[in-house]
Amino acid sequence: MPAEQLSSRRSELYQELEARAQALLQGETELIANAANLVALLYHCLPDLNWAGFSFLKGDELVLGPFQGKPACVRIEMGKGVCGTAAVRRETVIVANVHEFPGHIACDSASNSELVIPLIREGRVIGVLDLDSPKFSRFDDGDAACLEKLASVFVDSCDFSDAL
Ligand code: SME
Repeated sequence: MPAEQLSSRRSELYQELEARAQALLQGETELIANAANLVALLYHCLPDLNWAGFSFLKGDELVLGPFQGKPACVRIEMGKGVCGTAAVRRETVIVANVHEFPGHIACDSASNSELVIPLIREGRVIGVLDLDSPKFSRFDDGDAACLEKLASVFVDSCDFSDAL
Protein backbone atom coordinates (compact mmCIF):
# COMPACT_ATOMS: atom_id res chain seq x y z
CA MET A 1 0.00 0.00 0.00
CA PRO A 2 1.45 3.43 -0.91
CA ALA A 3 2.79 5.44 2.03
CA GLU A 4 0.29 8.26 1.57
CA GLN A 5 -2.59 5.81 1.62
CA LEU A 6 -1.23 4.22 4.81
CA SER A 7 -0.91 7.63 6.41
CA SER A 8 -4.45 8.54 5.44
CA ARG A 9 -5.84 5.29 6.84
CA ARG A 10 -3.92 5.79 10.09
CA SER A 11 -5.26 9.30 10.41
CA GLU A 12 -8.81 8.02 9.91
CA LEU A 13 -8.26 5.31 12.53
CA TYR A 14 -7.03 7.78 15.13
CA GLN A 15 -9.87 10.20 14.36
CA GLU A 16 -12.33 7.35 14.92
CA LEU A 17 -10.52 6.33 18.11
CA GLU A 18 -10.68 9.86 19.48
CA ALA A 19 -14.40 10.10 18.75
CA ARG A 20 -15.01 6.71 20.41
CA ALA A 21 -12.87 7.69 23.41
CA GLN A 22 -14.77 10.96 23.83
CA ALA A 23 -18.09 9.07 23.68
CA LEU A 24 -16.84 6.37 26.07
CA LEU A 25 -15.55 8.79 28.70
CA GLN A 26 -18.18 11.52 28.34
CA GLY A 27 -19.88 12.28 31.64
CA GLU A 28 -17.81 9.71 33.55
CA THR A 29 -15.17 10.94 36.02
CA GLU A 30 -14.17 7.63 37.64
CA LEU A 31 -10.43 7.16 37.11
CA ILE A 32 -10.21 3.36 37.14
CA ALA A 33 -13.28 2.85 34.96
CA ASN A 34 -12.11 5.41 32.39
CA ALA A 35 -8.59 3.96 32.36
CA ALA A 36 -9.94 0.43 31.92
CA ASN A 37 -12.23 1.43 29.09
CA LEU A 38 -9.60 3.47 27.26
CA VAL A 39 -6.95 0.76 27.29
CA ALA A 40 -9.53 -1.79 26.16
CA LEU A 41 -10.44 0.50 23.27
CA LEU A 42 -6.81 1.05 22.29
CA TYR A 43 -5.85 -2.60 22.66
CA HIS A 44 -8.71 -3.89 20.54
CA CYS A 45 -8.69 -1.15 17.91
CA LEU A 46 -5.01 -0.45 17.27
CA PRO A 47 -3.09 -3.03 15.22
CA ASP A 48 0.05 -4.80 16.38
CA LEU A 49 -0.20 -4.28 20.13
CA ASN A 50 0.56 -6.98 22.71
CA TRP A 51 0.19 -4.79 25.79
CA ALA A 52 -1.52 -1.51 26.68
CA GLY A 53 -1.91 -0.06 30.13
CA PHE A 54 -1.69 2.71 32.68
CA SER A 55 0.58 3.14 35.65
CA PHE A 56 -0.09 5.90 38.16
CA LEU A 57 2.41 7.79 40.28
CA LYS A 58 2.19 7.09 43.99
CA GLY A 59 5.01 8.62 45.96
CA ASP A 60 8.16 7.92 43.92
CA GLU A 61 6.81 4.83 42.18
CA LEU A 62 4.64 4.16 39.16
CA VAL A 63 2.01 1.65 40.29
CA LEU A 64 0.26 -0.59 37.78
CA GLY A 65 -3.25 0.41 36.78
CA PRO A 66 -5.76 -1.02 34.31
CA PHE A 67 -4.18 -2.81 31.36
CA GLN A 68 -4.71 -5.35 28.60
CA GLY A 69 -2.17 -8.07 27.93
CA LYS A 70 0.02 -10.40 30.00
CA PRO A 71 0.56 -9.79 33.72
CA ALA A 72 2.97 -6.95 34.38
CA CYS A 73 5.25 -5.65 37.10
CA VAL A 74 3.33 -3.70 39.70
CA ARG A 75 5.82 -1.05 40.78
CA ILE A 76 8.39 0.90 38.75
CA GLU A 77 10.74 3.37 40.40
CA MET A 78 10.85 6.80 38.79
CA GLY A 79 13.66 6.88 36.23
CA LYS A 80 13.64 3.11 35.76
CA GLY A 81 12.57 1.37 32.59
CA VAL A 82 10.87 3.11 29.70
CA CYS A 83 7.95 4.14 31.90
CA GLY A 84 10.06 5.63 34.65
CA THR A 85 12.21 7.43 32.06
CA ALA A 86 9.18 9.00 30.34
CA ALA A 87 7.80 10.08 33.71
CA VAL A 88 11.05 11.72 34.82
CA ARG A 89 11.67 13.36 31.44
CA ARG A 90 7.98 14.44 31.28
CA GLU A 91 8.04 13.57 27.61
CA THR A 92 6.89 10.76 25.36
CA VAL A 93 9.48 8.01 24.78
CA ILE A 94 9.38 6.01 21.54
CA VAL A 95 11.51 2.84 21.57
CA ALA A 96 12.07 1.17 18.20
CA ASN A 97 13.75 -1.87 19.79
CA VAL A 98 13.18 -2.46 23.50
CA HIS A 99 16.14 -4.84 23.62
CA GLU A 100 18.42 -1.88 22.96
CA PHE A 101 16.87 0.33 25.66
CA PRO A 102 19.09 0.34 28.77
CA GLY A 103 17.09 -0.89 31.75
CA HIS A 104 14.00 -1.88 29.76
CA ILE A 105 11.59 -3.81 31.96
CA ALA A 106 10.07 -6.74 30.07
CA CYS A 107 6.55 -7.62 31.15
CA ASP A 108 5.97 -9.66 27.98
CA SER A 109 8.79 -11.40 26.10
CA ALA A 110 6.86 -10.78 22.88
CA SER A 111 7.38 -7.01 23.17
CA ASN A 112 9.84 -5.55 20.66
CA SER A 113 8.90 -1.87 20.50
CA GLU A 114 7.24 0.50 22.96
CA LEU A 115 5.64 3.91 23.32
CA VAL A 116 5.22 5.54 26.72
CA ILE A 117 3.32 8.79 27.21
CA PRO A 118 3.55 10.69 30.51
CA LEU A 119 0.21 11.79 31.97
CA ILE A 120 0.46 15.40 33.12
CA ARG A 121 -2.28 17.23 35.01
CA GLU A 122 -1.95 20.80 36.20
CA GLY A 123 1.77 20.63 35.52
CA ARG A 124 2.27 17.49 37.60
CA VAL A 125 3.16 14.00 36.34
CA ILE A 126 0.43 11.64 37.55
CA GLY A 127 1.33 8.51 35.59
CA VAL A 128 2.00 7.02 32.16
CA LEU A 129 0.19 5.32 29.30
CA ASP A 130 2.31 2.42 28.02
CA LEU A 131 1.86 0.57 24.70
CA ASP A 132 3.93 -2.43 23.57
CA SER A 133 4.14 -4.05 20.14
CA PRO A 134 5.59 -7.36 18.96
CA LYS A 135 6.79 -5.46 15.86
CA PHE A 136 10.02 -3.48 15.84
CA SER A 137 9.63 0.27 15.17
CA ARG A 138 5.83 0.01 15.49
CA PHE A 139 5.42 3.57 16.77
CA ASP A 140 6.44 6.89 15.20
CA ASP A 141 5.87 10.58 15.91
CA GLY A 142 2.46 10.42 14.26
CA ASP A 143 1.32 7.69 16.62
CA ALA A 144 2.77 9.61 19.56
CA ALA A 145 0.92 12.83 18.68
CA CYS A 146 -2.44 11.05 18.30
CA LEU A 147 -2.00 8.97 21.46
CA GLU A 148 -0.91 12.04 23.43
CA LYS A 149 -4.24 13.61 22.44
CA LEU A 150 -6.11 10.51 23.64
CA ALA A 151 -4.13 10.59 26.90
CA SER A 152 -5.12 14.23 27.30
CA VAL A 153 -8.79 13.35 26.73
CA PHE A 154 -8.45 10.74 29.47
CA VAL A 155 -6.75 13.08 31.96
CA ASP A 156 -9.33 15.80 31.33
CA SER A 157 -12.20 13.34 31.87
CA CYS A 158 -11.22 12.10 35.33
CA ASP A 159 -11.77 13.43 38.83
CA PHE A 160 -8.44 12.88 40.55
CA SER A 161 -9.46 14.50 43.82
CA ASP A 162 -9.41 11.29 45.85
CA ALA A 163 -7.95 8.85 43.31
CA LEU A 164 -4.18 9.18 43.65
N1 SME B 1 8.28 -2.06 29.56
C1 SME B 1 8.00 -1.11 30.64
C2 SME B 1 7.46 -1.82 31.84
C3 SME B 1 6.08 -2.31 31.69
S1 SME B 1 5.42 -2.81 33.26
O1 SME B 1 5.40 -4.25 33.20
C4 SME B 1 3.88 -2.11 33.25
C5 SME B 1 9.24 -0.34 31.05
O2 SME B 1 10.36 -0.69 30.63
O3 SME B 1 9.07 0.61 31.84
